[in-house]
Amino acid sequence: MRINIIVAIAENRAIGKDNQLLWHLSNDLKHFKEVTSGKCVIMGHNTYLSLPGQRPLPKRRNVIISDRLDEAPEGFEMVTSIPDALELVKDEEEVFIMGGGMIYAQFLPMADRLYLTRVEKRFEADTFFPYINFDEWELIDLNVIDDDEQAGFTYRYEIWERKEQKEEPQPEQKTE
Ligand SMILES: NC(=O)c1ccc[n+]([C@@H]2O[C@H](COP(=O)([O-])OP(=O)(O)OC[C@H]3O[C@@H](n4cnc5c(N)ncnc54)[C@H](OP(=O)(O)O)[C@@H]3O)[C@@H](O)[C@H]2O)c1
Repeated sequence: MRINIIVAIAENRAIGKDNQLLWHLSNDLKHFKEVTSGKCVIMGHNTYLSLPGQRPLPKRRNVIISDRLDEAPEGFEMVTSIPDALELVKDEEEVFIMGGGMIYAQFLPMADRLYLTRVEKRFEADTFFPYINFDEWELIDLNVIDDDEQAGFTYRYEIWERKEQKEEPQPEQKTE
């Protein structure tokens, strides 16, 4: 199963404030919908609370990770830990980790792909994406948006794939 992270991130790695997003980018919301439609999305309790009307995202399998929710809200599945989330979705071809900060931090080390919307501006925030060491990642797709009048800033859709960390197993050396 491929683990994808999808996030919109400012220059200073800001992603949210007061349990809301920092900007309203209709194009990015559309992009998010296109990328995740028909797939499974995994979110933390706070990100669930930030959804409009706390309704599940349509045409997607919605999973919440929470220790405090008593039961899964209608239209969602719920687990109480990261291992349980991985077990629940293990038959999916790929999943999208959709935030927020706490959830990204725990999934980044095991992610295979990053779908980043890189906003070329700094924002005041209370929630940040963890540091990404881009040496470990290869850029496989880039789309620069510099003509979105609604945004008033440039942003880039980027897809990064983790470089293979493991070495191929070597054939056993014969010793005389
Ligand atoms: N820019 C973007 O692309 C983007 C995307 C998504 C969200 N955001 C923003 O991010 C902010 C929310 O992020 P956040 O860090 O506050 O919250 P979060 O990651 O959405 O949720 C945190 C909650 O998830 C549960 N949780 C996390 N790890 C867990 C674990 N290992 N086991 C069990 N439960 C676990 C806990 O809920 P319980 O307390 O119930 O145990 C925890 O309080 C908002 O501002 C939102 O708008 C931005």
